[in-house]
Amino acid sequence: MRLGVNIDHVATVRQARRTREPEPVAAALLAELAGAEGITVHLRGDRRHIQERDIELLREVISTKLNAEMAATAEMVRIASRVKPDQVTLVPERPDELTTTGGLDVAGAALATVTRAVDRLTKADIAVSLFIDPDPAQIHAARAAGAGAIEINTGPYADARSARARRMALAQVAEVARLAHDEGLEVLAGHGLTYVNVHAIAGIREIVEVNIGHSLVARAVLVGMERAVREMIALLNPR
Ligand code: PXP
Repeated sequence: MRLGVNIDHVATVRQARRTREPEPVAAALLAELAGAEGITVHLRGDRRHIQERDIELLREVISTKLNAEMAATAEMVRIASRVKPDQVTLVPERPDELTTTGGLDVAGAALATVTRAVDRLTKADIAVSLFIDPDPAQIHAARAAGAGAIEINTGPYADARSARARRMALAQVAEVARLAHDEGLEVLAGHGLTYVNVHAIAGIREIVEVNIGHSLVARAVLVGMERAVREMIALLNPR
């Protein structure tokens, strides 16, 4: 199973001070060195973390797959058509949300908008994946909209409180993965995956890639803290 590393929260830390560090591109290169097979960034309408500059630089620098998550708006399609990530993952976006809160309703209200965006991105030679909830109805709609891949929202699985709810949510992810694979769609998954809950998702044969962000960046902060502090103390106390 391939790992796509979402580096949005490296940019979140940088934007907290509107400064130059930490540089998301540097994080992307380190992730690639460690074996990541893709780098994912979400260019949000409010630019709260990733900036257009970041995507442009990543396009120049990384050697694995660049996956840009974005809303199906004319502005985003224009940016993607110019920067040309390897893949665009279309996601729903609400200005007040902390993070993406659910999948695209391709089977309902979003169908026309998504179909138009998929068409324009495909013409620009960009692969398109749709972020959808684990709902069979969304699979047929994703195919009809012209997407080549789907990313199954693992948020409900990750957020399930009881073991029973988690088992049911996992079964839904597995069922939708099977259906999507049978429809000829490439099957990805992501959202809310952690070092604790990823194991069961890794066991679903049809899923070929997961995108993980928050948990990886959170771990990186903690495993890097001791070294960072030692380095500062050494600067304060030169021999
Ligand atoms: N996939 C999609 C479509 C997302 O919007 C996000 C969050 O930006 C992720 C995966 C990664 O989720 P997390 O940060 O919870 O690992």
